[in-house]
Amino acid sequence: MKFGYFDDERKEYVITSPRTPLPWINYLGCESFFSLVSNTCGGYSFYKDAKLLRLTRYRYNNVPFDSNGHYYYIKDGDTIWNPGWMPCKTELDSYLCRHGLGYSTFESSKNGLAATLTAFVPLGAACEINKLSMTNETSSVKSIDLFSYVEFCLWNAMDDMTNYQRNFNIAEVEVHGSEIYHKTEYRERRNHYAVFAVNDAVSGFDTDRDAFLGPYGENSAPKAVCSGESGNSTAHGWAPVGSHHLKLKLEPGEKKELIFILGYVENEQNQKWSGLNEINRAPALAMLNRFNSVEKADFALKELSSHWETLLSRFTLHSTEDKLDRMVNVWHQYQCMVTFNMSRSASYFESGIGRGMGFRDSCQDLLGFVHLIPDRAKERILDIAATQFQNGGAYHQYQPLTKRGNAEVGNGFNDDPLWLIAAAAAYIKETGDFSLLDEQVPYDNNMDVATDFMEHLRRSFHYTLDHLGPHALPLIGRADWNDCLNLNCFSKEPGESFQTYGPSKGPVAESIFIAGMFVRYGKEYVHLCKHKGLTEEAALAENAITDMEKAVIDYGWDGEWFLRAYDAHGQKVGSNECEEGKIYIEPQGFCAMAEIGKEQGLCHKSLDAVKQYLDTKYGIVLLQPCYTKYHLELGEITSYPGGYKENAGIFCHNNPWVSIAETVIGRGNRAWQVYTRTCPAYLEEISEIHRTEPYVYSQMIAGKDAPTFGESKNSWLTGTAAWTFVNVSQFILGIRPDYHGLIIDPCIPPTLQAFQVDRIFRNIHYHIQVHNPDGVEKGIIQLMVDGKVISENTIPYDPSMVGKTVNITAVMG
Ligand code: BGC
Ligand code: NOJ
Repeated sequence: MKFGYFDDERKEYVITSPRTPLPWINYLGCESFFSLVSNTCGGYSFYKDAKLLRLTRYRYNNVPFDSNGHYYYIKDGDTIWNPGWMPCKTELDSYLCRHGLGYSTFESSKNGLAATLTAFVPLGAACEINKLSMTNETSSVKSIDLFSYVEFCLWNAMDDMTNYQRNFNIAEVEVHGSEIYHKTEYRERRNHYAVFAVNDAVSGFDTDRDAFLGPYGENSAPKAVCSGESGNSTAHGWAPVGSHHLKLKLEPGEKKELIFILGYVENEQNQKWSGLNEINRAPALAMLNRFNSVEKADFALKELSSHWETLLSRFTLHSTEDKLDRMVNVWHQYQCMVTFNMSRSASYFESGIGRGMGFRDSCQDLLGFVHLIPDRAKERILDIAATQFQNGGAYHQYQPLTKRGNAEVGNGFNDDPLWLIAAAAAYIKETGDFSLLDEQVPYDNNMDVATDFMEHLRRSFHYTLDHLGPHALPLIGRADWNDCLNLNCFSKEPGESFQTYGPSKGPVAESIFIAGMFVRYGKEYVHLCKHKGLTEEAALAENAITDMEKAVIDYGWDGEWFLRAYDAHGQKVGSNECEEGKIYIEPQGFCAMAEIGKEQGLCHKSLDAVKQYLDTKYGIVLLQPCYTKYHLELGEITSYPGGYKENAGIFCHNNPWVSIAETVIGRGNRAWQVYTRTCPAYLEEISEIHRTEPYVYSQMIAGKDAPTFGESKNSWLTGTAAWTFVNVSQFILGIRPDYHGLIIDPCIPPTLQAFQVDRIFRNIHYHIQVHNPDGVEKGIIQLMVDGKVISENTIPYDPSMVGKTVNITAVMG
């Protein structure tokens, strides 16, 4: 069952019922000001950091779900309704929600009044614009009362939810005509405030929540709206809100358009005030002035659209598969932008409080983002590297606002450092900009101990070598990619964090997954060493990689598949010898991607085992058989009921690893099957089972052991976005950046007989046509570059072609 459809022309997902199985959301903003907005107008805004600078309040895990948002109430006679249906839930005569690239539009109508609300965050400004148009479609005059409503958050979202003894006393606001200012804590240590304004005269306002809602009132029936009169209240303490009241008269056929702006403003310390306790509004007014007319707002929306057009033009596919085209051309890349911006901080499943930017997460998010805005990727790489420790280890997470490591989450996740090599290699391949390696970067944000970035990579690589266990395999530390495989934790008390409890090290627990990473990204490190003329280091690294391959083959091969780990007692994890958790997906994907034991057929065998033991119709589960008991020695993974999350859920993130690995051994059909099984557009028809948005990936789909097999959770913020885009663009379609040029190496299902890709790579436009007349799965028999046949499948970068088009024809066979 579907709850909407893809509008490919407009690059939108159009939701046709407000009653989606879960809120289906969109992200507004791609620079510093962000809003989450659901298909019922739920959501909230923040500036840079969802924890530390939150502008509006959302109530997670509330009833009904999706409570609080940026709401508009229309009172038309006795009927009160909202363009996004919530919070009044008045049955609408028509409803559509169009989630597009950086904007969402609600088109609804009731009793002959049509409302269109478009919400977006313009480029280059810290605000959200809401354009609300109302048209009287009846033949008589309509007099309506319109109320806006946002509830302000007292900036620190964590404190806002917990520290009521203080918070109920500190709220302060200022109102100037149609501008409402939220200035809590501005008198003391903050130099920022929020403004919520409308470009028309108001007949009333409210800034005190109780005055607006009434005693025991609620969002669905605010006292002010029901009575048709605002309280003109000024908040002193308690809960500050922003609500405008406008009385509108609409002649038959008349349309009225209003621009509401919610913005974030910072002032210099010496320019905070314009009078006694009166904030300096000048920068706010300047911002409002940029967008406070329909023409200005429309222009800003157009600018946003062309920004996205330009971004997406860097990779465009035309094939015979509509679903593939729309995912590749729009939604994969869009989700990559969102994960790049948010890491794992703010979604409808991540509260924006718990987790900031993840070291490993952000490094991986970059892999799918780097082609969009390489400069931002570079800046991010340097930010991440600046949180690294001198021994090569890293803070596992850091706050986006301060860019400092998050001490409570700590370090000792032994896969982290190697992801930095993956990110750096991806950036250099995309841009050819080796100067990244020469940047001076601090450790733990301390500039006194800065080195060049190449040295950071050296320490990343050597971190693994400095942490080898008894089988010469990498020690796992707190956990590797699988945060829940906590082999040194042994937690017995409820509530202890599996990720931070216990020692960060253990002498023997080893990870075959990290070994796979070491081999795969070690090869990139070798390349970079050679580029820098570090021949001795390159030779050392090559030897270390050979040794690691040997260690995996000798001690990490279980006969049919790669083992997952050795636990703290030296026992095997992910082996046929185990009772539960005999086979895990991660080492199969990564060791095969790293081509460990390829000649001996280990990659084939391990991928066959994945198909045989882990496959389901909705994707590949993380392990089998699921754990039914809590294993003290394995940690959080065994805390989940079978089929959920890391305990045998379909953890979407590592499905593309298997798909990529399949392309490495040339099985295009199977790579495609793995890709499509978790791909949202291919699941749209079963939205009642899948439940999350059919345009983006979720972290996890319940596995076959779960009673809710096929139901997904935790949409949007998942490394799946980046990995899937890497998989489909670089390995299935096979258009893959390399250090010295662009590789053309598709691995496709024979049913895909031809496709065309337009790729902007290092400012050259590559127009690539791929033909597959014989229906093979892999292999190019002829590659022509501007009419000339070349023998390699790498098109060397030719600086003389910058700004021009290169025509490529590839024939598979
Ligand atoms: C989840 C993991 C996540 C970790 C983050 C665990 O509860 O299962 O997916 O990475 O928390 O701390
Ligand atoms: C989610 C975390 O964000 C990510 O870092 C981790 O690799 C996966 N869960 C698997 O545990």
